[in-house]
Amino acid sequence: MDETYYRPIILESITPENFPDIALYVKGGQGNFILFKNQEIQLTKEDLARFKENGVEFLYLRDGDMPEISRYMENNLSAMFERDDIDKKVKETILYQTSLNFINDVFKSPSHEQNFERCRNIVNNIVKYMTRSMDSLDLLQTMVGNYYYIFIHSVQVATLSLLVHELLYTLAGDELVDVGIGTILHDIGMTSISADILNKTDSFSDYDYQKIKLHPQQGFNLLKQMSILEGVPLSIVRNHHEKYDGSGYPQKISGNSIPRSAQITAICDIYCALTTDRPYRKASPSEHALKIMEESIAIFNPELFKRFKEIVTSGSKGHGL
Ligand SMILES: [Fe+2]
Ligand SMILES: [Fe+2]
Repeated sequence: MDETYYRPIILESITPENFPDIALYVKGGQGNFILFKNQEIQLTKEDLARFKENGVEFLYLRDGDMPEISRYMENNLSAMFERDDIDKKVKETILYQTSLNFINDVFKSPSHEQNFERCRNIVNNIVKYMTRSMDSLDLLQTMVGNYYYIFIHSVQVATLSLLVHELLYTLAGDELVDVGIGTILHDIGMTSISADILNKTDSFSDYDYQKIKLHPQQGFNLLKQMSILEGVPLSIVRNHHEKYDGSGYPQKISGNSIPRSAQITAICDIYCALTTDRPYRKASPSEHALKIMEESIAIFNPELFKRFKEIVTSGSKGHGL
């Protein structure tokens, strides 16, 4: 079945000077999508002004053009957040829409259709909630503004971790929300590490690694100090780099002394990192990422890893996770 999906992009996030050459659509009265311009035609400031005058908030693009838009967002999002002429409400919507696009990417697999709706709603609501609560919005903005990759990575890890929790355990809604919040914020401690280190395109020195390894504890301290969270979310932030064989950090705990939700986050974290492009290496396909992880099987709970593998492998029969 060749069905085209359309993704919304909020008008304010479009700057015609550097917007990629892609086809753009408007939504018709019946919810249908009408071509506004094809990729050969340049979008102008006048077009945007006209849309604004007519109360249009979103334009739409084809799903297949998402990689272009992700690159565009990556280059422009922090600048957008700095701008005083963009309303806070609009910034929230930009953040929310960007997260949704990545959530949709993780949930492309048709074999998870029955389960994904609930998880997707939960992540949607978490992001919605977080963009509305001042303290958390500040946190998210720090992540997006300075470290776009960390933000997107966090949304991906949250989404995948929720899917795994949903498929393997019977959790109440609020337990899933706790997992969602903890996983979205799992790398928040990275915001206290210098951008010079994080933006490196070659390999890290020992000194860099020592600094980076502080992020779980620093994230935990930061959230504790803000007193907005406790329990599972804090435990995920602090323990997501602990390893089953005790070789992790910060506390070097091992086996099932590592809380289960942190064990799952650790698996999803590594998988998402391996399957995403980074400046210093290309993304590995799902199969290859699993193979790399299997080579270090001692660091994971073997039973959990086995179940995780089944989940992503069954997903990759469709479009892949
Ligand atoms: Fe981390
Ligand atoms: Fe991470």
